[in-house]
Parts: sequence; structure tokens; C-alpha cells
Amino acid sequence: MPDATLEELYREILLDHYRNPRHHGVLDGANRHADGSNPLCGDQVMIEARVGEDGTVEAVTFSGVGCSISQASSSMMTVYVSGQSTAHALEGVQRFQQMMLAGEAPEDSDLGDIEALAGVAKFPARVKCASLAWKTLEQALRTADGHTSTVTTDEKGVSDGGS
Ligand code: FES
Repeated sequence: MPDATLEELYREILLDHYRNPRHHGVLDGANRHADGSNPLCGDQVMIEARVGEDGTVEAVTFSGVGCSISQASSSMMTVYVSGQSTAHALEGVQRFQQMMLAGEAPEDSDLGDIEALAGVAKFPARVKCASLAWKTLEQALRTADGHTSTVTTDEKGVSDGGS
């Protein structure tokens, strides 16, 4: 359980990403797309990424509407995966989902500031808010160039080659 100082720090990190979202908007030259929705509230996020021939996630952006947790989580996700390999980005999705289940980051976590969202695990409805961008990113990275696929936070996982 974080102490009061740590909780304050986490709150500031989340507010900063909510008020000053990174990588927000449309991505020129995107070749991966997915739309995600949270059926509990109807909020939606769109993820666009440009993946190079070597599998590097060269750039990623998000757009859409949602609560402060979903927007902050989206912003932090884009910072985490930008410049990483697709494999590393997908590992990050797994680590994030483990953190949402356990309420703390896994031992091998490299999530950094994203661990500010660990406390959300205590509130199941908000887990869907925090997970929305990550599930949508996973869907986008598993979707072929030229296609846009959809996912919801109710879905357990994403199968390979989603259309
Ligand atoms: Fe809709 Fe959080 S309330 S994403």
C-alpha cells in the first residue's frame, strides 16, 4: 500500500498526463489502427501506430474521449511503446494487465510511471478505463496494415490476426 507521499506523487503523474496528453491526435503514415470501447460508459479510444519493416513501433497516437484515468493511461501507454519493438510493446500490455489484476507491478516490470495506475485495481469498473488504451493498442498491433479492428474492455484477450 503506497504511503501518502507516494499516493500524492502518483496523483500528480496522472493529472499531468491527463492535462498534457502526449502523442494525442491523428498520426500521419499510420499503418496500424484499432478502435476500442468501454461498454460500461460508451467511451471510445482510437489508436494509430506506424510500425517499421523491422517491427519497431516508430510512432503511436491516441484520440477519442474518456475519463481522466482512461486519458492518462492512454498518454502513458504511447510514451511507453514509442520507439520499442512490437514484441516489447506487447509484453508491456501483458505486464499492464498483470498489474491491473494484482494491484501491483510484476517483479520484472519496466512500466515506470505507469505504476501510478496500480491503485486502480481496487476499483473493477475503473480497471476497464485504465485498460482501454492498452487493449486497443494490442488489437492495433495484431491487425494487418490496411485494416481497422475493434475491441472492447469486456473481451478477455485478442487473438492473432484480428481482422
Ligand atoms: Fe469511460 Fe472511464 S468512464 S473510460
